[in-house]
Amino acid sequence: WTHVALGLAVGYLLGAIPFGLILTRFAGLGDVRAIGSGNIGATNVLRTGRKGLAAATLLGDALKGTAAVLIAGRLGGQEAALAAGLGAFLGHLFPVWLGFKGGKGVATFIGVLLGLFPLGVLVFAVVWLGLAFLLRYSSAAALAASAATPAALWAFGQPHLAVLFCILALLLWWKHAPNIRRLAAGTEGRIGQKG
Ligand code: G3P
Repeated sequence: WTHVALGLAVGYLLGAIPFGLILTRFAGLGDVRAIGSGNIGATNVLRTGRKGLAAATLLGDALKGTAAVLIAGRLGGQEAALAAGLGAFLGHLFPVWLGFKGGKGVATFIGVLLGLFPLGVLVFAVVWLGLAFLLRYSSAAALAASAATPAALWAFGQPHLAVLFCILALLLWWKHAPNIRRLAAGTEGRIGQKG
C-alpha cells in the first residue's frame, strides 16, 4: 500500500498544477475562469483567441499526467504508476490550490493514457478528432473518446487499465454535466468560438 500512497501523492501534486490558469495569467490575459465556460482547460483558453497558449495548456495538462505515471512507476512499479494516474487526474479535477475547483480532465486523461498505454492514445485521438471535425464540439468529442478508451483497453487485453480508465471516464463525464446539458439544449459553444 505504500506504493499506492506514493503514487497517489506524486500524481496529485503534479496533477494539481493548473497550466491553463498559470499560462493565461503570465500572458497578461487575466483569469481564464472569467471567460467562456469558466473552465481552466485548453478548450476555454482557446476562447481567448490564443492558439499557442491553448496548445501549451493541452500539452502541460497532459504531460503532467504522463510525468506522474512515469515517475511513480520508476519509484514504485506498476501499482504506483496506476495510482499516480488516478492521483494526477484527481489533482487536476480537484486542486487544493483552487479550492478544489479544477478542470474537466480531458488533457490529463490523455496524458495518463500516454504514460500507461501509448497505443490507447491513438484510439482516443481518432475518436476525438473525427467527432471534433464533424461536430465542432470539443466536449462531445471528449465524452465519446473517453468512453471508447476503457472499451479499447479491454479489447487490447488490459483489464486493470480498463477499470482505471472507466473510473476516469466516469469522473470526466460527471465534470462535463454542464456541457451535457448545453449539448442537449443546443447551446454548447463550438470549438474556437469566443465565449
Ligand atoms: O471536453 C472539453 C471540455 O474541456 C470542454 O471545455 O470549456 O467547453 O467547458 P469547455
